[in-house]
Parts: sequence; structure tokens; C-alpha cells
Amino acid sequence: MRIALLVYFSFISKGDWSLMVPDGKHMKKVQPNLTKRYAELIEEIQVHDTNYHVLDRPTIPDREYDKLYAELKNIEEAHPEIISELSPTQRVGAQALDKFKKVAHRKPMLSLQNSYSEEDILAFDKRVKKVLASEKDIEYFCEPKLDGLAIELIYENGTLVGALTRGDGTTGEDVFSNIKTIKSIPMKLKTSTPPKLVEIRGEVLMQKKDFLKLNEEQQEEGEVPFANPRNAAAGTIRQLDPKIAAARPLRFYGYSLGAFEGIQFKSQDSTQKQFRDWGVPTVAEEIISLVDKADGAVDYYNKIKKLRKALPFEIDGIVVKVNDYKLQDELGFISRSPRWANAAKFEPDQAETQIEKIVVQVGRTGALTPVAIMKPVVVGGVTITNATLHNQDEIDRKDVREQDFVIVHRAGDVIPEIVEVLKDKREKKSKAYYIPKECPVCGSEATKVEGEVVLRCPNPLCDAKLKESLKHFVSKRAMNIEKVGDKLIDSFVDNKLIGSYSDLYKIKIDQVLVLERQGEKSAQNIIESIDSSRKPSLSRFIYALGIRFVGEQTAKILAHHFGLLDKFLKTNLEELVEIDGVGPKVAQSIIDAISQDSFKKEIQKIIKNGVDIQGEEKKISSERFKGLTFVITGTLPMDRDEVKKIIESHLGKTSGSVSKKTSYVLAGEAAGTKLDKAQELGVKVLSWEEFQSLLAE
Ligand code: IVH
Repeated sequence: MRIALLVYFSFISKGDWSLMVPDGKHMKKVQPNLTKRYAELIEEIQVHDTNYHVLDRPTIPDREYDKLYAELKNIEEAHPEIISELSPTQRVGAQALDKFKKVAHRKPMLSLQNSYSEEDILAFDKRVKKVLASEKDIEYFCEPKLDGLAIELIYENGTLVGALTRGDGTTGEDVFSNIKTIKSIPMKLKTSTPPKLVEIRGEVLMQKKDFLKLNEEQQEEGEVPFANPRNAAAGTIRQLDPKIAAARPLRFYGYSLGAFEGIQFKSQDSTQKQFRDWGVPTVAEEIISLVDKADGAVDYYNKIKKLRKALPFEIDGIVVKVNDYKLQDELGFISRSPRWANAAKFEPDQAETQIEKIVVQVGRTGALTPVAIMKPVVVGGVTITNATLHNQDEIDRKDVREQDFVIVHRAGDVIPEIVEVLKDKREKKSKAYYIPKECPVCGSEATKVEGEVVLRCPNPLCDAKLKESLKHFVSKRAMNIEKVGDKLIDSFVDNKLIGSYSDLYKIKIDQVLVLERQGEKSAQNIIESIDSSRKPSLSRFIYALGIRFVGEQTAKILAHHFGLLDKFLKTNLEELVEIDGVGPKVAQSIIDAISQDSFKKEIQKIIKNGVDIQGEEKKISSERFKGLTFVITGTLPMDRDEVKKIIESHLGKTSGSVSKKTSYVLAGEAAGTKLDKAQELGVKVLSWEEFQSLLAE
């Protein structure tokens, strides 16, 4: 067991730490310089994390940051006994939980009274004045109402020690392991005089741009996309394995207090300022406002309503709070909401329409996705007709049926989503919808892979799969055949002009001309566009093939590693898992693809039809490293990719993991576990200088 928990830090004055490690029954002071440096690194990395994740203003290049991180890791690996819970390396715990623990809130987490208009804000102001028995103008603190999930951070003596969901308001769930992975949340408050206790409440959410990117990745990996940013954030926090949260771009914004001890707070605005000074993220100062009377809150409501679309996250209104805490105390609570705050919601940017039918679309990987086809309706200036229903679980949960009247909006301001089914308007004879068990295009019986929610068409020759695969093949980041769009591909396939990728390169202008709506000029453009894609780079080509889990980045890694298509096609599982950046899931999927005869034959046909795949040129300088495998670790004076290229140019190989087969481990500054592994296995370790002399031999 690691003894990290037994390590004590005592904060003497700003920046001055001393570290005590238990030594038998006594406490022993160890290597003050090292522990001082260790503490400095922790603080420094947190500052950079805040600059990067909170302020969007990194102050050092990534490489410098990586160096600090590597130095910290190096210390931890050499001295595991000093690992601090506050270290950035400890943000992702090793283990997934069985379930979340229930924990009582010290102070209940309440909800807000909702209202929906300017008049409601003025009515709220009247109620406040009435309870206070005063005619005087009230100062209000106004902020956006964030659409995520409420979380409470617990700091004891300045250290983050826990995080709870709101739960039922009285008892929440302990989601600390996931919350810790959010790098913008400081593990330690930036102060030399932290209070004994402070609970910071706020919202965890996913920004619109991060949500859209995540959904793209989900789709690329054949996973079910999230309906909206709030679901994505809530779903992530509910995962028991913190590694999942660590890989997703969650944010936290603090906006109110729970229990506290050893500190005084005067007002809402000074609390927000305190949060910021402590390094706790809050929403940008430009979108909060301290107003001297209710009219100001009304102006704020209208201003934010206009700004709403341009904000980086989804909001559903504003929150107006009496600024002065003394007045808040006087006002108190009514049932489960404070009398001193009011949420003025916006009319959501959504519209009512009717589902005409539910169709099932077949994706490139054969995934069957139900899609609602609706009467066109304008939401946020854009006409919506289709909304994905994801899968049967989602359809059941919302109870969506054909002919239903529904409310739609655009998740992340982009993706059409059914928010609500208007069940009152439903016809009596309406029946629940079930996704047919056959592929709607080829009629094959759909299959379900264990552990997945999606149904798939198993037929490799299914026309729908062919169309979607072709659409991916010609897409911008793949073969980039600009003039061949979705409609043309449908038409090519429907007219039996094309049955595979290779057929694209056989197509003649006369055949294109036969298709309806193709004139001489546009047919010519199509042929030219296809021709211009005949010399793809290896990485584009690999990506275009549409192998499951092989996205653009993986394709680049593979192209770089293999250099030539032939080498890639002849690889094996052993070699693939050795490649830095290729995991076992991806490796297996590649093997599944390349071991199919039809796959290999198709590639031969593409080449035969005049596609010349450009190998990644590898300069060969000598055969000095032939048969040798290098593992590079730590920070070197030269970019790692450059070093790889040098090794490869002397016919050496590089690998991401150390094994008995490794010839050398090239260890730079702050090398970590790979160095330990080398020592353990007796693999020779080279310094940068030794590597240079080996090259010069
Ligand atoms: S203050 C006593 N401020 O709204 C309530 N809440 O209905 C103190 N929310 O669960 C909460 N943005 O998830 C506050 N700027 C904001 C907020 C906000 C969103 C949510 C929060 C809470 C719900 C209350």
C-alpha cells in the first residue's frame, strides 16, 4: 500500500513547505531541498492549470509544462513515500468505485424559485422589500443560470477534501474521485491563510464546443452521442471510473457558499471575488453584474438574453440575488428556497412540431440509429426536420411515438433534440415505437454486441453501409473528393454504378452523364475531383478506409510507423500494441480488418484502378540500428518525433513500452516508469550523450 496518506505537509508561510515522513515511531525530516522543490512544482503546475483551463490564457508553452510535470513525476517515482494527495498526478485515482457513497450536506442545498419575465423580477423585488419592511432600493447581484449540475466542493484548511452532488438537497453523493479530475478546480486554495472550512457550491458543465467535439469522437468510435451538454456532464459525473471523467472536458464555476468556519463573508459579490482570488473558477466578470436596484436586474435579464447564444456554455436564465448577506439572513427561507434569490428563466429557444415518422438510419459501422422526421420548424434561426433518437432505451425513456407533437431545441446550439413529448395531444390509438429488428436497407437481422446498446446490421454488403462508408471515404479529411457529395453517392449506389471504393476510380464521364441532373460541365468537375485524389498520403488513405476506432490521429501514427501501405497490411497484433498511441482495442480492430481477404482485395483493386498511395518517406542514412528497438522516455533536447525519425533513418525501431525485446531505453530528463522497467529487466539505458556517441560510431 502506498503511504501517501501518512505524509504530512505543514504550511508554514507562503511557498515554504516542510515535509515529514514517518520513520518507525518518529517523524523524520527528509531532504528539505527535494521536498521544497516538490511542493513548488505542485503549486506551479496548479497555477498553469488555472491559467490554461480557467483563464484560457496559458503563460508557458506546452513543452515547458510537460517538463514541469515530468520533473514532478520523477520525484514521485524516486520517492513514492512523499506523494501528496494534492499532486496533479493524484487527480485520477487508480480504481473505479463500486458505487457512490451517500453523504449528508452540512447545510442543505436548496433550489431557486423560478420566474419567467421582467414583471416577475419586479414582483420578486416587491416581495423582498415587503419582508424587509423597507422602501429602499436593494442592491442585487445578477449572474447567469448555468445549465449543468450543482456540485459542492469541500475545502478544509485550504485543501480540497471532498465533493458532493446535490442529491435530494439534504444528502448528496460523494463524487470526489470524478471532481478531482477537473483540472481547473484547485486542489489547494491560493492563500496562506485558508479558513478551517469552506464549502464552495457551483455548477459542473461542459462547454458547447467541447460537447460538440466529444460527440464527434463518440460517433467516430461507434459510441452513442450525448443528447445535450447537460446530459454529457451529468453522465460523466455519474461514471464510477474516474478515468472516464479525466478524459472528458468538464468545467466548474463557483457561485455560492455552503457551510464555512474561520472566515466571514459579507456579500455575494465579495464572495465571488474571494473565489477568484483563491483560484476557484467563476463565470467571467463581464457576464455578472452588481446593480443598485431592480430595474438594473431587468436590464441585465435583457442583456444576457441577447448574449445567450454567444456564451461558451448553455444557460437557461439568470439568477438575481440580494447582494448583502445581512439582508439575506433577514429574508431567510420559504420551504426549500431562499427568499433572497430568484431565477428568471428565458423562454427556451425551442419550438413545437409534429413527428411525421420515425426512420432507422444505418451508419458506416452498421449501427442502426432511429431518427425522428418532423414537420419543418425554425429554432434559433435554423430549420430543423430531423432529430436523432439515439437508441431504444432513449425512445422508451422519452416515450416518443410516430405522429407525436413534440418540443424541439438545438443542443449545444447545434444538434436538434426532442426535449419533450406533448402527451396530451397524442391520439388515443397511438402505439409505442420499437426499432425494427431488421436492417431497413438490406433486411438482415440486426445484432447486438454484448455490452453495447446499439443494434447493428451485420451484413458487410449492405447498401447503406456502403453508402456511408463511401461518404466517409470521400470526405474532406479522408480522400477529399470535394465534388462527390452525399446525394451523388446515393445516386451512384442506387444506380449500381458503384459497389466499392475502387469503383469510384473506374467511373467514366458517360456514366456520370446518365445520372439525372448532371450536365456536361458538372460531370467533368466530378471526374476531375476524383482524379485529383489519386495520390493520397498514406495517413489519409488509412483514415479513409474507415477501420473502426481508427480516427485521423491514429491513422497519422500508423502511417508514420509503417511508412508504406504494404508494411501496414502485413502487420500483426504484437507489433501494433507496441506502437506508442495505439491501444489494444484499436489494434484488434485493425487486425480484424486487415485479416479479411475482401479488405485486402479491395485495396489491391483501388491501386489497380490508378490510386498511388504516397508512402511516408523515410530517409535511410545507414543500417547502424538495424534490428534494434529503442524506447524513448523523459525530456530530450530534441523533439521526440525528430528523435524517432533519426532512429528510423538508421533502420532502428521505436516502441512505446519496455520489454525484454527492447535494445535500449533512451532516457532524457525526468524519465519515469519506463526507466524503472528498463532497470528491472536489465535493459541498457542510454543518456542523450551516449545516444549521440552511438550514432557517431
Ligand atoms: S445559487 C439557494 N446561482 O440552479 C440556491 N444556482 O434551482 C443557491 N444554478 O441547483 C443556488 N446557476 O444547479 C445559483 N448562478 C447560479 C446558478 C444556480 C445555476 C442552479 C443550481 C441549483 C439550481 C437551483
